[in-house]
Amino acid sequence: MKIAVMGYGTIGSGVVEVLDVNRDVIAARVGEPLEVKSILDLREFKGDPIEHMVVHDYMDIVNDPEIRIVVETMGGVEPAYTFVRAMLESGKHVTTSNKALVADKGAELLQIAKDHNVTFLFEAAVGGGIPIIRALLESLTGDVIEEIEGIVNGTTNYMMTKMTCEGSEFEEVLKEAQDKGYAEKDPTADIEGYDACRKIAILTSLVCGQQVDYNDIPTEGIHKITATDIQYAKAMGRAIKLLATSQASGDTYFARVAPFLLTPDHPLYHVNDVFNAVYVRGNMLGDGMFYGSGAGKLPTASAVVGDIVELAKNVDKNIPITWEAKKLTLADPLQQRYAFFVRTTADRATVEAVFGVVSYVDAGIAGEVGFTTEVMTQQEYEKKAEQLGEVLQMIRLA
Ligand code: HSE
Repeated sequence: MKIAVMGYGTIGSGVVEVLDVNRDVIAARVGEPLEVKSILDLREFKGDPIEHMVVHDYMDIVNDPEIRIVVETMGGVEPAYTFVRAMLESGKHVTTSNKALVADKGAELLQIAKDHNVTFLFEAAVGGGIPIIRALLESLTGDVIEEIEGIVNGTTNYMMTKMTCEGSEFEEVLKEAQDKGYAEKDPTADIEGYDACRKIAILTSLVCGQQVDYNDIPTEGIHKITATDIQYAKAMGRAIKLLATSQASGDTYFARVAPFLLTPDHPLYHVNDVFNAVYVRGNMLGDGMFYGSGAGKLPTASAVVGDIVELAKNVDKNIPITWEAKKLTLADPLQQRYAFFVRTTADRATVEAVFGVVSYVDAGIAGEVGFTTEVMTQQEYEKKAEQLGEVLQMIRLA
């Protein structure tokens, strides 16, 4: 069975490596060997063993009837969308690691795949090597999923862990994350939470079967988290983690991406470094957690190759996945309830006049007050914060 890879960057080259290193075991599982025939890239790779496979025009792959499975590891919506669409329309199965593409065009590409009796898979788009998508689509189908909370961005989790354990500075740990191949080329997507936002949009779409627009998900990144916040977190015995959350509410979901303060008994508290974890609560399952390598070359390539094997075993059919283009209206995020940790330069009398009962946190920081509130809606918090003025920081408790 012949395969093409579009994009020979970190993940694409990882896919070729996994297929090579695990060639025999994969062939045994599929029932025949898998062979990479073409690699689409702008570069030439002169002197590289893959040089003879390189093509520069995606139509060379479209027009090659031998190629049955195409891997998309280019990233970004365009031209990936145009290329993937053309592959599906020409009767080739596609697997992608591209969360931007899946979050934006997932429903549409699944429909195109169905119309052409081929399959579109994207296990690597969320949680790197962790099989969370297959778990939701195939294993937890007897459950109503009530809640998903995920640490789904390896870069930011690595950065928060380093900042917490080693007291390292933001810029220094970011560079380390980039050197290790975790961060995107433009780290804004990681740091500002956009990457996590797309991933929770995908997971929520899959559990509700409708299109969740990532633009509707309130998203805060980690760029405002400082060493002082970490001192407060330690004084509370908590850890700060960037969580991507989705919680059932009637017929819809609350969704949010933001840093949260976690207690040690929270299932995600101990998820450190580049590891990802997705905590799922089902109405029959109760609690489940999927944990593992969430970013990086080989873990992500492992998930892509898992999809390739699945596609190769089902080469003559469409594997149905329910994700309709009809947009889901998310629950109003202002009505979601939290307890809040707040830092302010206001005095205690003002804090209590505005927020009523609070618990103060002593982290030994002069010139400001840190406290946690009772549980209230986001809207109530925002109203009170406005009355308080002078808010230095707010982090929700989980
Ligand atoms: N930049 C992403 C991360 C890669 O750090 O998790 C995996 O999607």
